Order: sequence, then structure tokens, then C-alpha cells
Amino acid sequence: MQANLLEISYLIASLSFIIGLKMLSHPDKARKGNILAAGGMLLAILTTLFLYEHEGRAMANHWLIIGGIALGTGIGYWMAIKVKMTAMPQMVSFFNGMGGACAGVIGVVEYSHHHPMEYMTFDGSVFTMLAGLVIGSVSFSGSMIAYGKLEGKIGDKGFSKLTYINILLLVAILGLLIYVLSLPENNSTLMYLLLVLSLVYGISFVLPIGGADMPVVISLLNSFTGVAAAFGGFLYDNQAMLTGGILVGSAGTILTILMCKAMNRSLLNVIIGSFSAGASGSGSGEDGDQVIKEITISDLAVQLKYSSRVRIIPGYGLAVAQAQHLCHELEKLLDAEGIDVKFSIHPVAGRMPGHMNVLLAEADVPYEKLQEMEDANEDMARTDVVLVIGANDVVNPAAKDDPSSPIYGMPILEVESAGTSVILKRSMGVGYAGIQNKLFFSNNNRMLFGDAKDSLQKIIQELKSL
Ligand code: TAP
Repeated sequence: MQANLLEISYLIASLSFIIGLKMLSHPDKARKGNILAAGGMLLAILTTLFLYEHEGRAMANHWLIIGGIALGTGIGYWMAIKVKMTAMPQMVSFFNGMGGACAGVIGVVEYSHHHPMEYMTFDGSVFTMLAGLVIGSVSFSGSMIAYGKLEGKIGDKGFSKLTYINILLLVAILGLLIYVLSLPENNSTLMYLLLVLSLVYGISFVLPIGGADMPVVISLLNSFTGVAAAFGGFLYDNQAMLTGGILVGSAGTILTILMCKAMNRSLLNVIIGSFSAGASGSGSGEDGDQVIKEITISDLAVQLKYSSRVRIIPGYGLAVAQAQHLCHELEKLLDAEGIDVKFSIHPVAGRMPGHMNVLLAEADVPYEKLQEMEDANEDMARTDVVLVIGANDVVNPAAKDDPSSPIYGMPILEVESAGTSVILKRSMGVGYAGIQNKLFFSNNNRMLFGDAKDSLQKIIQELKSL
């Protein structure tokens, strides 16, 4: 009876993960989806604590486990409350690293307690322990390096020899794993060697990758953690852990592929390439003899008031300036004038997947006001004014017409075809890819220099006074 209840609770938990994940794909339901999946996880933890039995023995050390959960929950809650929107990728990396560490520790503990059966040539449970140990440890140390890079605590160490060292390390790990699996009895020394090699590999795998490529790497490491957790699920015959691990593993893999596609780069290029570390590509838009044209707040306000179609393109700078609420206020103001206003979202604008969606959802921008890149490009030619707020690379035409540019081939929002584009940024400074943007010098473009929040505040004031 108890065992059946446990199984049913795992089934409910698994369903809550799947439905919760599905709900995360829509901003309106994302919050509820998150709570639903977390509720499923809580149910699985509680039923495991109180209903699990092995060979007639119930779970022990309840207070130790509850104490650990309380400590982890407290620290996680504190970090999540304190984190700045722009530091979200670091936090995701840190949390992901913790998941990897758990999977690695499971491998160490279970292998140490495992009593192999005699004459057994291949022990499947030893394989799941060691696979979880290797993948979880790589994910842990790799995520910690990614965290350090995004926090600016670790610089880009782009020495190319690391690629060869990494290949050697990988071969050594695989060789050792196969050897340990072939042993008739446990060998803790070799298991710890495997652990150390995996931790070192995680560090040397992430160390040479450019800091700006970290979001893709984090997503990849996230899928590693999922796979490591799924091995734990196999080991314990725990369906909730298995489903959760597989979902994280596959979602991480899909996200990694989507991000690479949106940046028009292969995963291999992210891992061994140096799009960002160098960022010295010629790019385009030599500013030598070209001039930029600025626009005043009052001219922009008038132009906006007499437009019939306005598009707002948010970018990383919007998150830095925390100007999302003002963006929404501007949108409402223009909407009230009967102007068709939409936010055009590039899939890799900002620094993490869905960054702009999250930011705008925080300011209660209705989901119908958001427009995907393909739709935005279709109606760009019919748009009177495009306000580019803190975005740079995602509107850089070099991606289309400069084969020497490091972002060549990346799909962009084709702002040049709109009536007028206005760029809100603080300076002529470059974005993430570190290259100039020739859009700034184009005939129908105007620059409005200043912090996005200040500029938006002034535009709103001016519009209200018209
Ligand atoms: P970026 O190209 O990075 O440009 C951001 C611009 O914001 C900068 O040029 C900066 O110019 C401006 N800015 C910064 N603070 C500002 C402030 N307070 N007020 C106004 N402007 C401010 O951003 P993007 O266009 O969003 O492109 C994203 C880039 O990140 C792409 O290259 C993409 O490939 C990359 N990337 C994204 C992801 C994901 S998943 N989103 C993952 C990996 C890489 P000033 O300094 O002159 O103000």
C-alpha cells in the first residue's frame, strides 16, 4: 500500500514537471507553471521521506535531511530575492552547479557502499553511478567557472593548447571509466581519480570559452546536470527523479541548439571558437568619414505622436537601465493616441534566453504586444518609427552584409527598412560582440544618447506636454 502511494506520488510529480514545463513557454502561465512543478517536487520529497522503504526498513536521518533542505531552501531563496536581473545567468549557473554536485556526490556515496555481485561481468548500477559521478562533476566545476566568468572574477583564458589537453582528459576519463567497470570489485582509489579528472575536465572545458558565450555553455551544462540526475533516477528506480532529469536534459539540449541557431553558430564553434573572447573582428561601420545624426527629445516626441505604427526593440541595455516599466508607460501613452505599438523581440536579445520577455512581463506588458523577429521583419517597412532601446548586435546589418563580421549570418531585426530608427544608448560603445554598428551612421537613423531610463522619462514627459 505504502509503496503504491509512493509510486502514485511520483506519477503526480512527473506530470506536474511536464505540465509545469509546458506552462513555462507562455509568460502568462509561467509563474503558475513554476509553482506547479515546485509543488510536484515538494510532494516527491515528502513522500520519499515518509513512505520510502527498502527491504522493510524506512528512511532514516529525517532531521538531517530536513535540516539540509531548509538550509538549501533558505540560501536559494535569499539569492533569488537579492539577484539583479542582469546577474540572472550567473545565478542559474550557480544553481545548476549545485545540481551537478548533488549528482556527483550520489555517485561517490553509492559506489562506496556498493557490493558487487561475484562473477558479474557488467554491473549496470555501477555504470549509472559512475556516469552520474562523471557528468555531474563536469557540470559542477564547469558551472562554477561559468559563474566566475560572468561575475567578472575569472578572465577569458583563451590558450589554444587547452583544446588538446581537453581531448586527452576526455580520453583518459572514458578509458578509466571502462576499466573501473570491468573490475570485479570496487576500487575507491580509481573512483576518486575519476572524480578528480572529471572536475579538472569541467574547469578546462569551460576556461578557454569566451565569457560572452557563457549563456550557451550554461545551457549545455544544464543539460549535463539533467542527464546526471536521470542516472540517479535509474539508480534508485525513482520515476520522479528520472522524469525530472530527462526533462532538464532535453530542455537544456533544445535550448542550446536554439541559441546557437539564433546566433548562427555551431555548438563546436561556441566551444572551440572565440567569437566573443577576441571580438576584434573588423565588423563594419568604420566611423572615419561617416557622421551620426542625433535627435532631440522634443523632435522625437513629435515624431512619435504623429506616427501610426511604432515598434520598440529592447536589448541588453534596457535590462541594465531597468527601464522596462517606463517602456510600458510609453507604450500605453502611444496606445492611447491610437498608435499601433509593439515590442519586437530578437531571440537572443539580452544575455539569457527569454531575457526581454521576462523583463517586459515584469512590467506587465501584455503578451499580445510582443512580436517575434520574423513577424517584426515582415512589417518593418510599414513602420514609421523604431525605437531601439539598449540593443545593438541584434540590429547590426553587418550580420547580413559583411562576411568578415563575426556576427555574419546571425538573423537580425531589419531596422534599416523602417521609416526612421532611433537608437537609445549612452555612447557609441559596442555591444556583446564587440563590433561597430553601421546602422548608427545610416541616413534614416538618429541617435539619442543617454541612459535608457533617463531618456524614456524625458520622452514621456515631453509626450504628455504635447
Ligand atoms: P548588445 O549588443 O550587447 O548591446 C547592448 C547595448 O546596450 C550596448 O551597446 C550599450 O551601449 C547599451 N547599454 C548598456 N547600458 C545601457 C543603459 N543604461 N542605457 C542605454 N543603453 C545601454 O545587446 P543586444 O542587442 O541585446 O544583443 C545581445 C547580444 O548578446 C547578442 O550579440 C547575442 O548573440 C548575445 N548573447 C545573447 C544570449 C541570449 S540567450 N540572450 C546568449 C549569449 C549571447 P552603451 O554602452 O553605449 O550604452
